[in-house]
Amino acid sequence: MAKGGKKGSLKAALASQQTRLKKKKEVEHAAQHEERIKAVVQAKVKAKGKAAPLRPTIPFTATDNILLIGEGNFSFARALVLHPPAELEFLPASNIIATAYDSEEECYKKYPEAQEIVAALREKGVMVLFRVDATKLDRFSALKERTFDRIVWNFPHAGKGIADQDRNILSNQLLILGFLGSAAPFLTKGPIPVVNKARKRKRDPDDDGPEEDEVEDTADTDRRNRGTILITLRNVAPYTLW
Ligand SMILES: C[S@@+](CC[C@H](N)C(=O)[O-])C[C@H]1O[C@@H](n2cnc3c(N)ncnc32)[C@H](O)[C@@H]1O
Repeated sequence: MAKGGKKGSLKAALASQQTRLKKKKEVEHAAQHEERIKAVVQAKVKAKGKAAPLRPTIPFTATDNILLIGEGNFSFARALVLHPPAELEFLPASNIIATAYDSEEECYKKYPEAQEIVAALREKGVMVLFRVDATKLDRFSALKERTFDRIVWNFPHAGKGIADQDRNILSNQLLILGFLGSAAPFLTKGPIPVVNKARKRKRDPDDDGPEEDEVEDTADTDRRNRGTILITLRNVAPYTLW
């Protein structure tokens, strides 16, 4: 038998077994470490969420005159007037004009709940108007001589059912262009508002990452300025293209 024969191969097998065990332990340790890190990160995110909840964006002040365009079932107007955030609790209902493109009859047919909502809005003192074309606002006698701090159109959509994507996008772009031109003379005159101002986000003492800039909407503190137009859109294509 060669020197170290049986004894040698036993030693080698033992060494190989030990190496395998060591490797297995290392892998297990790495996996446990990864789990621990994940748990710590999750706990941090959770704690952060509790300590500093995201501030809601409230694009109005309690003294704004507001024109709402293209309301569907008037649920946005209802939220603003009947269930306002604390900051807008004293916003006078008479400061708000809520409009729909549909006739009153069409509106209630499409959205049966709108009848009750409109009645509640009117009772509160909101002026509700139907058949208001966003691109021809100067045609409405009720709007004559009035100016607004905010003219708002949530989710403009021509709704022409155009299947061709490019033509559909174009028709919505033209709608928005027409709206902007039509709405401009109805905006309160004044200096251009400072809408966004960057400020440093307060640093979490446990956070090792770099400091981030945060955009703060200072419109509420810097106005009574020139009125502004607010358009909201879904943040996905094709809506982002108009
Ligand atoms: C996607 S819906 C959004 C409805 C509502 N603003 C909302 O956010 O739920 C688009 C609205 O724009 C309206 N609209 C379409 N063309 C318009 C126009 N020329 N002037 C005013 N509103 C228009 C439609 O009647 C519809 O109510």
